[in-house]
Amino acid sequence: MLDQSIENYAKIKAILTELVKGEKNFIANASNFSSLIYNYFNYINWCGFYMLEHGELVLSTFQGKPACLRIAIGQGACGTAAAQKKTLVVENVHEFKGHIACDSDSRSEIVLPVIFDYKLYGVLDIDSSVFNRFSSEDSEFLRNMLRILLESSDITKLDGYYNPIDIKSE
Ligand code: SME
Repeated sequence: MLDQSIENYAKIKAILTELVKGEKNFIANASNFSSLIYNYFNYINWCGFYMLEHGELVLSTFQGKPACLRIAIGQGACGTAAAQKKTLVVENVHEFKGHIACDSDSRSEIVLPVIFDYKLYGVLDIDSSVFNRFSSEDSEFLRNMLRILLESSDITKLDGYYNPIDIKSE
């Protein structure tokens, strides 16, 4: 059993690589991805995906307390990151205008756009119970992890079930 108290980028990356090896199903891999971050990063109280369905974000696979089901593009941290198609780090959720509080334990948050083959599929949302939890190193590492997940999984099979937005022309 791995020591869950230590936060070690190389170890977490190695576990992810092992977990996705030989598996293409995005939901299965994204579920393990959420669990990995939730259990092996310190001070995380929620980790999961919101996916685009007919122009709004809908809750997908996650770890943590039950969360709000739908978020409009441009609303909250998730909707803002989706609209900007950029990673958003919120150091203090109480100071973020329009923040949607799903878990009152959350103090800081990072949201990464899920982009594959010039299509925005949704966002990865990670909440922390401490302020200013996510450093620029964390941000870069998480982008890297997300790339591994997307390159290992057949997310395009979900086209039609979800409705990714084409961003090639933007
Ligand atoms: N805080 C997010 C909502 C999702 S929950 O944190 C799981 C937001 O402001 O978009």
